[in-house]
Amino acid sequence: MTTNAASPLAEAAAAAGCPFRPDFDPFDDPYLSDPYSWLAEARSQSPIFYSPEIDYFVVTRYEDIRNIFRNPEVFSPSPTTEPMTPPWPSTMEEFAKWGRAIQYVTGPTLVNEDEPEHMMRRRRITPPFLPKTVALLEEHVREYTTDYIDRFVKRGHADLVDDFVWEIPVRVLFRLMGVPDEDAHYVKEFTAERALFSWGRPSEEVQNRMAGEVGAFAQYCERHIARLREKLGDDVTSTLIRFSDEDPELFPELMVHSYLLNFMFAGHETTTSGSASGFINLLQDRKQWQMVCEDRSLIPNAIEEILRFNPPINAWHRRALKATQVGDIAIPEGARLLLVIGSANRDPDRFPDPDRFDITRPDAKFHLSFGVGNHTCLGAPVARLEMRVFLEELTRRLPHLELVPDQQFEFSPNASFRGPRHVLATWDPSQNPLPQDRP
Ligand code: HEM
Repeated sequence: MTTNAASPLAEAAAAAGCPFRPDFDPFDDPYLSDPYSWLAEARSQSPIFYSPEIDYFVVTRYEDIRNIFRNPEVFSPSPTTEPMTPPWPSTMEEFAKWGRAIQYVTGPTLVNEDEPEHMMRRRRITPPFLPKTVALLEEHVREYTTDYIDRFVKRGHADLVDDFVWEIPVRVLFRLMGVPDEDAHYVKEFTAERALFSWGRPSEEVQNRMAGEVGAFAQYCERHIARLREKLGDDVTSTLIRFSDEDPELFPELMVHSYLLNFMFAGHETTTSGSASGFINLLQDRKQWQMVCEDRSLIPNAIEEILRFNPPINAWHRRALKATQVGDIAIPEGARLLLVIGSANRDPDRFPDPDRFDITRPDAKFHLSFGVGNHTCLGAPVARLEMRVFLEELTRRLPHLELVPDQQFEFSPNASFRGPRHVLATWDPSQNPLPQDRP
C-alpha cells in the first residue's frame, strides 16, 4: 500500500534523487519472517531510500547508521515514542478518559530526549544500571530460571517462549523498578500490544483497546509511585522519585511517571525476543549448540552474535534537526529516518560473511543492537546477564534439547520489535543429565 506519495518528504526525496522503494513493506511477509534477504538487496542497490509506505528515509548501511546514532546534535531521537500510525481520533478520546496517561506515553522518557538535558538526566539515573549493581541481580535471575526450568524439565516438551523466557525478564524488571511480583498482570496487559501500537499498522479497534490498557497501567504506576514514596528503596523508581524531589526543574514530577511507564516496556520484550531468537540460532546449528554445552565460557560471545544476527529491535528512528547529508543523499530538516539495525549488523563491509551465524566471531560485539553513543541502551548489562543465565542453565540441564521440526515462527507485524512468538522444543526426559530432573 503506497500512502504518502505526495508528502513533503516524498517531494524532498524526489528532489534529492533518493530512490523510492514502494516494495518496502515491514508489516507483512515475506519481510516480516525474513527481513534480511530483502535488506541485503536494498543495502547494495539503494542503501538509503525513501519509503512511501511509512513516509521515512530508510538507512541500511552500518557506517551511516553508526554515524547517525553518534550525532545527536543533528539526528534527534525525539520521534521515538510517536506511533508510526497516528492515533485515531477515537483513540485520543479513549486516552482522555484516563487522566494524564497520554502524557506518560508520549512524554520525555530518556530515549526520546535531546541534549543537553538528556545526558544531565541520564547521569543521575545511571547508578542502578551500573554493571556492579546489576551483578547483584544474578542470584535472582538464576533462581527464577531454575524455577521455570523445574516446571517443564520432566515434561519432554516446552514452548521456550511461553514456558521459559516470557515472564522472567518481567520479574527481573519488577525487582529493578521496585514493583511487587504479584502485580505482574498489569505489565503483561499493558505491553501485550505495545509494539504493534508504536510500530505497526493497528486497526482503530486495537488502538482503542491499547489506550484503555495504557490508561489502566498509568493509574497503576501512579499507585506504585505513591506507595514507594512512603518508603523509598534503592530501586530505579525510588531513584526517579528522589531525583524529582531534589531537582524538580530538571526532572518534573510528570517524568517519574513517563520514565517508569516506558522503562517497564523497554526492558523485557526485547530480552525475551533476543533469548528466543538465540535458542533458534543455536539449536538450528547443532555443532554450535554442542560447543556451548561443552564450554560455557563461549556463552558471552555467543550472546553478542545472537544480538548481531537477530536484533530484538530491528529498526529505530531519528529526526533530522537540520538539513544534512547521509551518504550521497540530501536529507531535509525535519525528515524522519528509519535506521535498520538488522541491516547494519549484516553489512559485509563491517562483518565478513555476515549471513553466517558464528558464536566465535571475534568482532560480534560491535553490532548496533543496543544503539551506540549517548542513547546506547542503559539496560544492556541487565539483558546480557539474563541471556547468559538462561543459556547456562538450559545447556546444563537440557543439552539434548531439539527444536520441533518444520515449525513456522510467528512475528508481530511491526517495523521494529522482532522476536518469535513461540519456540517449540522436545527432548527425552529419561536422558536428562541430572538424576533429579528425570521423571
Ligand atoms: C536485548 C535486550 C535489549 C535491546 C536489544 C535493547 C535495545 C535498545 C535500543 C536500540 C535503544 C535505543 C538506543 C538509541 O536510541 O540510540 C535502547 C535504549 C534504552 N534501553 Fe534498551 N534494550 C534491551 C534491553 C533493555 C533493558 C533490560 C532495559 C532496562 C532494564 C533497557 C532500558 C533502556 C533504556 C532506559 C534506554 C534509553 C537510554 C537513553 O536514551 O539514554 N533496555 N535499548
